[in-house]
Amino acid sequence: MICIPITARTESGMAAMMAQAAPLADVLELRMDFAPHASLEPLLRNRPCPVIVTCRPAREGGEYAGDETARIALLQKAVDLGAEFVDVELDSAARIRRGPHTRLIVSHHDFTRTPDHLEEMHRHLIQAGADVAKFAVKANDVQDNLRVLRVLRNTKHPTIALCMGELGVASRVLGRKYGNFLTFASLAAGRESAPGQVTVEELRGMYRYNKIGPKTALYGVIANPVAHSMSPAIQNAAFAALGIDAVYLPFKVEGDPAEFVRAFRELDAQGYSVTLPHKQAVIPAMDEVDDSVRQAGAMNTIVNRAGRLCGSNTDIPAALGAIEEALGGGAPGPAHPLKDKEALIVGAGGAARAVAYGLAARGAYVMIANRTHERAVALAREVAAQVVHMDRLASVRPQILINTTSVGMLPDVQDTPVPASALRKGMIVFDAVYNPPETRLLREAKAAGCVCISGVEWFVRQAALQCQLWTGRPAPHMAMEKVLLERLSRR
Ligand code: ATR
Repeated sequence: MICIPITARTESGMAAMMAQAAPLADVLELRMDFAPHASLEPLLRNRPCPVIVTCRPAREGGEYAGDETARIALLQKAVDLGAEFVDVELDSAARIRRGPHTRLIVSHHDFTRTPDHLEEMHRHLIQAGADVAKFAVKANDVQDNLRVLRVLRNTKHPTIALCMGELGVASRVLGRKYGNFLTFASLAAGRESAPGQVTVEELRGMYRYNKIGPKTALYGVIANPVAHSMSPAIQNAAFAALGIDAVYLPFKVEGDPAEFVRAFRELDAQGYSVTLPHKQAVIPAMDEVDDSVRQAGAMNTIVNRAGRLCGSNTDIPAALGAIEEALGGGAPGPAHPLKDKEALIVGAGGAARAVAYGLAARGAYVMIANRTHERAVALAREVAAQVVHMDRLASVRPQILINTTSVGMLPDVQDTPVPASALRKGMIVFDAVYNPPETRLLREAKAAGCVCISGVEWFVRQAALQCQLWTGRPAPHMAMEKVLLERLSRR
């Protein structure tokens, strides 16, 4: 079930929000502590769907700071009026008289941490008479999700268990796979009743929450930061388009990604995307890696093959595929289209390294220019490339020019890594920046008659190749690109 908390500050505001939320929810939570002057009776009389009545005291992270006797009386009234659920904190549960129509949620909240001994706390909630036991605790580490989900997996008692905060999103979505009684979703961004709540639109649309069940396969992205990652939107859209029972979640991994992967083996995830800053540090957690990872020293994809975690790198074939297509296609081999082509890479970070390896392996003549010259020298040495000074870009005239720096990315859209004077008709210009989809570099390249490849193309291709590795089926490239462009246009 999906529960939308009603967080308006007045009775009329609550009534309006209830009407708006009811079509999207199975149950509404009336947060009476948010609206201390609201009268419960008319709200219950006119409720459009089942409700949970809550009046959360400040000591459990709520807004009620008044008299405890009055608070208990309000909750008792909700029972007497036959509200479907009344949520009372563990320390007050004994003070509520049961009614024939109301199920009691006995709850515990911790906004500071995920306490030890969750199982013991869960037992206390049940012993206190919970028809539904609930605990909401703050995740300070992504692994706290595991501890909370473990309680759900091991109980048959109706339970609501979730981690709050940015690190807890996985528990809010994945809980359904393990029988979570309900999850909370906000009616809209900014109307959350607790940190980390996702919007009901995302929960239903992007995560397809109502389709999650015991057999749903788990995928995710390992990143830090992860909040603005586009991967959940496009990979979930891909699974939906393919009709695959899977969900793809964001995992904000602040510590060692290898440790995260090892710990999360418990959930038997079928695959992960790995992105900044973890593309190298995750490698030790793999059972095997393919040649692309060995060559580039970085990976972006984990595939679970019958329990063996296999590392791969789709960044490289995605970039090469886009360039080859722009060159007019052609199969790899002795007459490879990239052979002997002159390619200038701007930048010397992880992205540059992946592209440089790929191009060099295909026989291209690679040149590298970078703001910090020494980094260009170091990378060039590794991949047997030439170094070009940044102030000499206009005199190089490569057939392929690739920007791997973040220059030109939102909000600095007026910046460009390469002067317009360096752009020549017929040159292939590839910008790794995908936000905005058309950077100043690409605009100027288009005007100069270059063949342009946007970072959107690269991003979608690397994601589509991941999807293909995971599912064994051709990825719905168009659907994925559409979702990405739609998301980018919202910003
Ligand atoms: P990634 O893994 O995405 O390539 P990175 O390793 O941080 O990220 O590398 C970023 C690249 O963008 C580097 O080549 C960086 O240049 P420096 O080596 O001089 O830091 C380049 N870069 C970032 N901001 C830049 C800017 N404002 N001007 C020029 N180059 C920039």
